[in-house]
This record gives sequence, structure tokens and C-alpha cells, in this order.
Amino acid sequence: MANKSGDAIHLATKLTRRQFIARGAALGAAAALPLRLWPQTSGAQHVVIRADEEIGVIRPELHGQFAEHLGSCIYGGLWVGKDSRISNINGYRRQAIDYLHELGIPVLRWPGGCFADDYHWREGIGAPERRPKRVNIHWGGYVEDNSFGTHEFMGLCRLIGAQPYLAGNVGSGSPSELRDWIEYCNYPSGSALSDERAANGSPEPFGVRYWGVGNESWGCGGDMRPEEYADEFRRYSVYLRSFGPTRPFLIASGPNGNDAGWSRGVLDGLLHHMPDGFAMHYYSGGADHPADFTAAHAADQLSSFAKVEQAVIQQRALLDEYDGGNRVALLLDEWGVWDNLTREEQARNGRLWQQITMRSGVAAGLGLNLFNRQADKLYMANIAQIVNVLHSLLLTDGAQGEHCVRTTTYHVFALFKPHRSQTSVRTETQDSSPLGLSVSASKANGQLVASFVNPHTDADIPVDCALEGARAASGSGLILHDSDWNAFNSFDAPDRIIPRPLEIRVEGGTRVRFDLPRMSVATVTLQTS
Ligand code: AHR
Repeated sequence: MANKSGDAIHLATKLTRRQFIARGAALGAAAALPLRLWPQTSGAQHVVIRADEEIGVIRPELHGQFAEHLGSCIYGGLWVGKDSRISNINGYRRQAIDYLHELGIPVLRWPGGCFADDYHWREGIGAPERRPKRVNIHWGGYVEDNSFGTHEFMGLCRLIGAQPYLAGNVGSGSPSELRDWIEYCNYPSGSALSDERAANGSPEPFGVRYWGVGNESWGCGGDMRPEEYADEFRRYSVYLRSFGPTRPFLIASGPNGNDAGWSRGVLDGLLHHMPDGFAMHYYSGGADHPADFTAAHAADQLSSFAKVEQAVIQQRALLDEYDGGNRVALLLDEWGVWDNLTREEQARNGRLWQQITMRSGVAAGLGLNLFNRQADKLYMANIAQIVNVLHSLLLTDGAQGEHCVRTTTYHVFALFKPHRSQTSVRTETQDSSPLGLSVSASKANGQLVASFVNPHTDADIPVDCALEGARAASGSGLILHDSDWNAFNSFDAPDRIIPRPLEIRVEGGTRVRFDLPRMSVATVTLQTS
């Protein structure tokens, strides 16, 4: 049964060592060794997985992605064009498609970001050579030739198996423009717009469910006050209907971080017109160049994920005040690390091209762990961004390069993949400080999966994990680790950091022990009865 109390887990993770042991003793569950009997192994961190305390289903959409017309994300990253010397499938970079398809991308948000509120979808359909060239005002003032438009995006989604999520233009657009985009995509046939779609090569409707109504409307999406945005949202939503069988799921622009003022201002103005979803953004800034972090700055950035978790809990609680339950879904449709980038590197590889290191992988693990723990509160999360921008899964050597490597972020998403669609269960750790050992667990069909992140740059952690409510017959583990938090998968050494087997010991069916080195992310899979 899902437990809706966000506070419960928070309190649980705040137990002192004495309370933790006392609670274990009090529970004294038959299946588990009572915690008070645990030998005080030197420095071992105790963890409890309560397999019978369910939180909620981990929606695959919590592993969502985001692709913007920014730097070399689309052009040169995902899309190289049909005539490129780079191996491609009808213009899509073959290596990127293969990697993304293998990982499985549940949902992909496009075309922005800030770009979305200056994008006019009609300019991206029809014969590519006739599409107008426009200046990308947000990301460097280069000329956007619109060769990647709606049909190319839908083709990408099909190739990698993603559900499309289209971000509509409110800042410089109009309700009729967005309404027409929905009709163009979703109306089966017989209207001028659906016939135009068919003439452009897609007789079948795209059936797009997720529609963003503006992006960061408090900033690059129109610099609005919350009450202004609420008025805009209400006006737009009148016209954004079901064109055909797919009912659009309308996502309002939520707060920057945990800004309750924005959320309340918008929701006060939407009382009788609640959106389907409310999308917050939360970036974890970094003081250093990505491959040159000091230990102190790595600790600062990694600690911020505790604030992200607080923000999810508090924004969910705030939404509940308005909707009396889970009616409005909470999304985190931009998240990830945003480091201190150099002009030179961006000039070479594209705007916001960011090297992805072991530290970035640890950050991804902290994010995915907190999403598991808050699975009953979050509907979707989209890391920013899928290729070549910020916290990416894949990096290419700029827009022209042939190389394409899987980053530590990619491998962390792969390590968390077994959690998708499983039921999240409660976990407890001894150290609830922002840099404490991070844990989450989920179960389904005789399998218990637990993920562990050690965010310390200077301390290895022996883990002593008790199972309650399940018995493990056998198990295995995989770990992503490099003691050098600035290490990365380069074009010369693309597989320096990849998941490797982790030695675990399953003892008496109710205890699992292993060593978790500094800067590591691990997933343990147990066969249970
Ligand atoms: O992801 C990069 C940018 O960050 C997006 O365009 C914007 O929405 C956010 O500020």
C-alpha cells in the first residue's frame, strides 16, 4: 500500500544511530536479525530495507530525458543529416540511436527549454529546403535552419522508443498556434491540418499526450509574474483540447527550485482550471570546471540533492493544499548538474557542452535514488539534457565529430533501469546528512533491487544491509566507480568507467554485505521469497 506521508520517510532517515538501533530492536522482526544483535563491525554503515513498507510505483517516466535546440544537442548530436559522413539512420546519428535504444528512453521532452518559447512549429514542417532560417536568440544567435522539426522529432522518438513530450510556446506564441500544433499532431484525418500532416509523410496521428504550456514562464518564457502566467494558462487551456482520441495532458510552468511564491501565485489563479501537471526545475550548480572539481566543491554540489528532495516533498505538499490529493501531477522536467563551463570549450563543442565525470555520475545516482524514495510524489523527471548539453547521457566531439561516448550518467541510468515499474519500498540509513550513504530499493516479481551511492571523495563504506519483509536466496551486484572524481570516459578511453561486478555476500537470507568505495554507484539485485 502506498504511503503518502513524505514526512514519514524523512523522519525515518533522520534517526540517530541510537534511535536507529533501538527502533530495530523494537521491531525485532522475525525475518531479520534484530539490529541490536548486529556486530559493531568497524565503521560499517547499517541499512535496513523494509520490503513490506511500500511507497509507490516507480514510473519509468522518472528516467525521462530532455533535448533542446541548444549547442550540439540536436544538430550534430542526435541529428547529423542524411548526407553526413557520420554513420546515420536517415539523418539520425547511428551510434547515439543504438546507445539510447539499448538503454530505453521512456519519455523525451522537446524542443526546449528556453528555445520552446521562441519556436514556431510551422517553420519546422514541409520540405526542409523551404523551411525558414531563424535566429536562435537564446543560445548564441546562430542560424537555425529548422531541418529538425516535428516529423524528425517523432521519428527520433520512434527509433529510441520514447513517448514524445512537446513544450509549447506561450512566451512569444499564441493559443491558436499551440492549439493548431495539437490538431496537426493528433487529429486522425479529414481536417486541413491532419491532411497536411499526412501530405508531409505521416497519415497516422502522432498521438502526443504530454504538452507543456510554456517553459520557465518566470524567466526566459516571458518573464511573467505568477498571476500573469495563471491568466495565460487559463486562456490557453480553453483551446487545448482533445483532437482525436488522445487527451492532452497539460503541464504548467512550475517553480524555479523550491520557489513557493511562484507556485502559490500560479495556483491561486488556477483554482478552477487546475493543470494536469506542474513542472518544477532544479539545477545543482557547480563552482568548478567539470573535470577540475576540488573535493570541497564536489561535496557542495552533491549535498544539494538533499535540497532537491526537500523541494519535491514541499512542492508536493503545496500542490496537495490546492488539489486535495494527487490530482495535479508534480514533474521535475529539468534537473541535473550545471558546472562552471569555459567559453573555449563551449566555442569548440557547442553551448553548455559539459564534460561528464565520476562526480556527475554520483550526482545522477543521488537524483535517481531520491526519485525512487519519493516515487509517490513525482510523476516525471527529465534530466537536462540527453546529448552534449549539461548532465548528458552521451557526448560527441562537438557537432562535427564522429566519436560518441556513453558517459557515467548513461551508465548510472542503466544501473537504475531494473527499478522501472517496480514498487519502491522504504529504506533506512544511519547517516541522514546530505552527504550520507544514499539508498533506495524497489521490488517486483520475486526480485528486490537496491541502489547505493557513496558520495564521499575520501571515505569507503562497508555496507551492512538488513532485509525486513523479504528473504534473499541469492543476489548479485554491479558498481560504477572511480576514485578520481574528475575522471571521465574520453574519446580515447570510452570505457574507462563502466559498470563492473560488485562482490556481495548474502547471509542467512536477511543480510547483505559489501564494500562501497568512495565515489561509487551500485545496484544490488536479490532473488527473494
Ligand atoms: O537546460 C538549459 C536551460 O536551462 C533551458 O533552456 C532552460 O529551461 C533552463 O533555464
